[in-house]
Amino acid sequence: MSEQHISTKALHAGHDTTQTLGTRAVPIYQSTSYVFNDTDHAANLFSLAELGFIYTRLNNPTNDILQNRLAAIEGGIGAVVFASGTSAISTGLLTLLKAGDHIVASSSLYGGTYNLLNVTLPRLGITTTFVDASDASNFETAVQDNTRAFFVESLGNPKLDVLDLEAISKQAKAAKVPFIVDNTVATPALLNPIKHGADIVIHSLTKYIGGQGNSLGGVIVDAGNFDWANGNFPEFTEPSAGYHGLVYHEALGNASYTFKLILEGLRDFGGALSPFNAFQIIQGLETLTVRIKKHSENALELAQWLEGREEVAWVNYPGLESSPYKALADKYLPKGQSGIVTFGIKGGFEAAKKFTDATEVFSLLANIGDTKSLIIHPASTTHQQLTAEQQADAGVGQDLIRLSVGIEDINDLKSDLENAFKSL
Ligand SMILES: Cc1ncc(COP(=O)(O)O)c(C=O)c1O
Repeated sequence: MSEQHISTKALHAGHDTTQTLGTRAVPIYQSTSYVFNDTDHAANLFSLAELGFIYTRLNNPTNDILQNRLAAIEGGIGAVVFASGTSAISTGLLTLLKAGDHIVASSSLYGGTYNLLNVTLPRLGITTTFVDASDASNFETAVQDNTRAFFVESLGNPKLDVLDLEAISKQAKAAKVPFIVDNTVATPALLNPIKHGADIVIHSLTKYIGGQGNSLGGVIVDAGNFDWANGNFPEFTEPSAGYHGLVYHEALGNASYTFKLILEGLRDFGGALSPFNAFQIIQGLETLTVRIKKHSENALELAQWLEGREEVAWVNYPGLESSPYKALADKYLPKGQSGIVTFGIKGGFEAAKKFTDATEVFSLLANIGDTKSLIIHPASTTHQQLTAEQQADAGVGQDLIRLSVGIEDINDLKSDLENAFKSL
């Protein structure tokens, strides 16, 4: 059978109905632990001589179906789910890095991730150089002897910069470090970073994949291509003190990182996804391709409409002809550019706040990727803790309003914004 398309995989991949009593829907296995056949069986599971379920902090049958489905959709060899996107990012990095290591990252990142790299990880001795990712050669310039990872967002939140993943991946290969791509805003329905050279793909499942604004979750997908034995990662090639002398690369080959995320990352940091949330996220994932098409259509139409408004100073959406990222969007996001639109309002900070307070269909809240339309003024909320320079690097001006365009009727969205303009 030929390789299935993403919309088919989103409904079927990872679920063998003969293993779930024939249930057509993926069941929720709401159990913390699993009965062993006998002590030998238990010993084999703990020593990895046999694979199976031990404890839900490490794995769970519902979570496992979600993991296998996401790996299939992103084109990876394995995936591990987490309690949130942030848990996926922090555990993913801490499983890979140690004190003294260095990251090169795009400066255009979700504010929480920026803070993790800029403030929290340095406290543990892991530092980051932030670069303007629109020029891939900036990554090469920032590489140090101790650089061990590149980190970017394929479609930056909220700058909406589309990155040239292939060019950055070349720099990562030259530096012999894994290229980690947060693909949350683009979604796997519009872009598969592994096809463009990513080694590790991360998602906040809280956003478009869950899609209904009801459950937090995160995932790391491992492409299985990175050479952990290249000399830069002794934790993969020397006996692990954390797992009774296991030499990951020898025992697990290209699945080393996936297993390390479970055996050490989830075991030690504990950011496991609740099976109930996994179930909810599976419901969302099944309709992702249909929803993201509508999100993208509504966002493009609204961005074009905003461009024609005299109250608006500028509009940023990668699908607009006026966008500096249009050529990259044509290459990397030809099926649609997702649902986030940002624009600047004439009148700056105060006008932006007033406008944001006046919408009714657009809910004022700190999330993206819901079926319902959302609005926020980042300078006074999500990005308020950054300096003016950091805000500028992240693409957050005082006048910027971020819309997460939902799948409502486009005319209702336009009239809601029309009313908010009238309130100014
Ligand atoms: C691009 C991106 N990555 C990661 C996260 C963090 O995800 P979570 O809120 O699920 O922890 C967010 C949250 O807004 C995000 O926008």
